[in-house]
Amino acid sequence: MAVLEILTYPHLSLKRRAEEVEKVDGEIRKLISDMVDTMYANGGIGLAAPQVGVPKRVVVLDVRPYDPSTSLISIVNPEVVAEGEEVINEEGCLSVPGCVEGIKRRRWIKVRGLSERGREIEVEGEGMLAIVLQHEIDHLNGRVILDRMSRVKRDLYKKRLQKGKGEGGMM
Ligand code: NI
Repeated sequence: MAVLEILTYPHLSLKRRAEEVEKVDGEIRKLISDMVDTMYANGGIGLAAPQVGVPKRVVVLDVRPYDPSTSLISIVNPEVVAEGEEVINEEGCLSVPGCVEGIKRRRWIKVRGLSERGREIEVEGEGMLAIVLQHEIDHLNGRVILDRMSRVKRDLYKKRLQKGKGEGGMM
C-alpha cells in the first residue's frame, strides 16, 4: 500500500500530454495499485497518473458512492470510441482545490483500452461514471477543469488561489 502525493494546479505535470503505455507490466500494475490507494485515501472517485506525477496514460475510478451498480475500474491507454449528447455537471478536482464548477460533458460514453492484465476492455457508462471517465481522460491530455471554464471564472479562481487553496474535489 502506498499513498502518493497528489499534485495540484499549476504543477507542470498536469499540463502535459501523458504517453501511451507500451507494455502493461508489473510496474504499471504497481502504479495502478498505488493510484487506487491514493484515490481512496483522499476520498476520491477518480484519479489519473499525471496527478501523481507519472506521465502515462493510466486512470482509475470508483464511482460507487454515486452509482452502486458500478465497480472499481482501471484503464490503460483509454480512448473514447462513442459518446452521447452534452450535459452540464458540477465537478471538482483533487488537483484543483477549492474549485467546483459546472462543466460541459457527454451524458454517456464508451471507452476502449487495456485492463491491468493487458487485455482489451471496453467500458461504457452514463451519469457519474461517464463524467469521471471524461475528466480523467482530460488529465491524460494535459487538461484540468479550469481549461473548460470561461476565462473570467478561471481568472477568479487564480486570484482566489493566492489567498489559500481550500478543499479538493473528488476526481
Ligand atoms: Ni481531476
